[in-house]
Amino acid sequence: MKSTQLFVIAVTAATVVSCKKDTLHEVVDVPATPIVAVKQKGGKPTDVKAAEGAFQILELPYGYTALEPHFDALTTEIHYSKHLLGYVNSLNKSIVGTKYETLELDAILKNLNASDAVVRNNAGGVYNHNFFLEGLGPATGKEPEGALMESINKDFGSFEEFRNQFTEASLRFIGSGWTWLVSDKTGKLKIVNTANNDNPLMKNLGITSVPILNLDLWEHAYYLKFQNRKREYVNTFFSVVNWEKIEKRYDAFPKAARSSVPTETAVEAPGTETPVQAQPVVTPKPEEKTGE
Ligand SMILES: [Fe+2]
Repeated sequence: MKSTQLFVIAVTAATVVSCKKDTLHEVVDVPATPIVAVKQKGGKPTDVKAAEGAFQILELPYGYTALEPHFDALTTEIHYSKHLLGYVNSLNKSIVGTKYETLELDAILKNLNASDAVVRNNAGGVYNHNFFLEGLGPATGKEPEGALMESINKDFGSFEEFRNQFTEASLRFIGSGWTWLVSDKTGKLKIVNTANNDNPLMKNLGITSVPILNLDLWEHAYYLKFQNRKREYVNTFFSVVNWEKIEKRYDAFPKAARSSVPTETAVEAPGTETPVQAQPVVTPKPEEKTGE
């Protein structure tokens, strides 16, 4: 009897172990989510250097974690150390031996031949990202003040209405590009979108205003954290705008930047230009809202 009992016990134990193995095997086989597998690299902005060339990369005025929890550190790191760095290195290569080689970045954009597609994309990519990243900072909960706030109230009715119009313009835009708050010669504010890496300094767009604030609408700017929730990304952007910096841009405009407003309003004849005209912003009808 004892040997029979031992045999039964042994068979039962083997069956249990076998079942546990099967169960464990099924659990281990659950596929991992690729986004979860992405890890922060842990470097510092000061570790990032452009290859030798006319332009160096912007010194980021904050660390990669400074915009947390609103903008995640990994996106900030990749945005700066991969995307902006890539534009700087490409710009340096693309201007060698050209008329742009000795010009400052602003001058390249203002004197750009719109058919120089590579320089147009790289110079715009550097300028737009510099402008965007310098306009951000740790959340303060503040709203704009001073002359900028007075003009926002005058031209949009209220800060809330300005935010609404800026947000809807961003969501209405399809594809990669930028939303801008710009000022004309009189200080009047308006909102425009530009496609790809175009910006208000490019005369062929006919924007005739200088940039005050911009928002990156390329998916690399938000997809890691926000995925398809573009409205949440735009709303979150307003938590990390450095309004003191934006106010200084606007305050400096009448004194230092008025002469830099593009004055050439003529747009190249159809057929000579790629389809990257500035997009006039209008308040969308409810059924036209896209981007989420
Ligand atoms: Fe970007």
